[in-house]
Amino acid sequence: MIVCHCRNISDHDIHAAIDWMRAADPETLATPGKVRRALGKPADCGGCTTLFLGTMRNGPNPEMPMHIRDLREATQETGTCKATARSSNASTVRSAAS
Ligand code: FES
Repeated sequence: MIVCHCRNISDHDIHAAIDWMRAADPETLATPGKVRRALGKPADCGGCTTLFLGTMRNGPNPEMPMHIRDLREATQETGTCKATARSSNASTVRSAAS
């Protein structure tokens, strides 16, 4: 099935690119941008984004790297994201202002 008509990207192309990325680095986080870059086909109109993401999620290899699986639950429990500490942003702003 063709997912992106502008760049002629099929669901097989997307799944093959994700498999290739995971074979090279099992910890990699597959994003549409990385998949497009791996395929050498950048986005054009962007109209396929929803279908592109759905194809990525429903593929045979939708596994998330272990270290980021619990980020959503941790964020909902504490109200802050573990991935980006807010205090580091505040200190950067303060040091830049002085
Ligand atoms: S349909 Fe995919 S970029 Fe246009």
